[in-house]
Amino acid sequence: MRVNGRHFRAVNWHVESAGVQWIEQRLLPHRFEQVVSVSPEDVALSIETMQVRGAPSIGAAAAYGLALAWRVDAMHFFDHWLTRFRATRPTAVNLFHACNAMLACAETSPTANQMIECAQNYADAEVAANRRIGATMAELISVGQRRILTHCNAGWLAAVDWGTATAGIYHLAAAGEKPSVWVDETRPRLQGARLTAWELNQEGIDCQIQADGAAAWMMALGKVDAIVVGADRIAANGDVANKIGTYALSLAAREHGVPMYVAAPSSTFDPACPRGRDIPIEQRDDKEVLYMDGIGEVGDIQEIRIAASGVSANNPAFDVTPNANLSGIVSEHGLWHG
Ligand code: MRU
Repeated sequence: MRVNGRHFRAVNWHVESAGVQWIEQRLLPHRFEQVVSVSPEDVALSIETMQVRGAPSIGAAAAYGLALAWRVDAMHFFDHWLTRFRATRPTAVNLFHACNAMLACAETSPTANQMIECAQNYADAEVAANRRIGATMAELISVGQRRILTHCNAGWLAAVDWGTATAGIYHLAAAGEKPSVWVDETRPRLQGARLTAWELNQEGIDCQIQADGAAAWMMALGKVDAIVVGADRIAANGDVANKIGTYALSLAAREHGVPMYVAAPSSTFDPACPRGRDIPIEQRDDKEVLYMDGIGEVGDIQEIRIAASGVSANNPAFDVTPNANLSGIVSEHGLWHG
């Protein structure tokens, strides 16, 4: 999608330097910067430290990172790099799909260029899936005044291009409709306020950031026509792990009769995981809850503590929404009810 009118992907192969390039998402919306590296360890760190985040982008970064590892350190591909990438984050199953796809490719003894092609095909397939998700989703959310609520960032930054939850919104806008979006700020890392609102704004889509606690009240007031979120892992029974706060949204949606959809490519489905309660949930650093960062008067990024010193915090990064609370799950293959 576009930044100042120019097309970008969240992560890509950088031909000139034969390395991986990604958008440094921790700096947004204050600064737009791309990083290029020829070190597979840097790529693994970019996932671990959330420079690259969002399930499909994590998968694509791992695919490119493993292609890079094959190019610069093929000897340690099987005994080090696969394990290293698999350990970067636990919940988004796209990561493991991507590692398996790259393993299958490596087992055919490819050249470095063939491995890069394999990673490229992986990322391109994700983007194609998102486009198809968007077409289906656009039909489903053509309801009421097209006031859509979303949580976290399931936009193009999270999904290489187009996004999953946002793809339908972008399709509606391209068809001349005027969707408007309630963007949950998404504590503690504020992916909604920082990333989704920035993306939508760059695409000229009307949106308003709201505190997470405002979502249920907007539903009670009849101001939400549909909710669309992404997913990090979908169990075989249709239960969905997504950013913390999604489960609470689903309870309010059910209470107020608001349709709630999950948009995710098939790389987010985990048929080996029977139920939602079997999905590993990442517990992140207390610091994300206790501190905030933002931009100072001279454009420097500053971190401040917002809680009393000595107080600790609980920081589960994801929760699980039971399939029964959802109106449906949209993948590139269409609508599924679970
Ligand atoms: O911790 P994050 O920012 O990686 O979590 C991201 C989410 O929960 C997204 O909703 C999910 O990955 C879907 S991305 C299309």
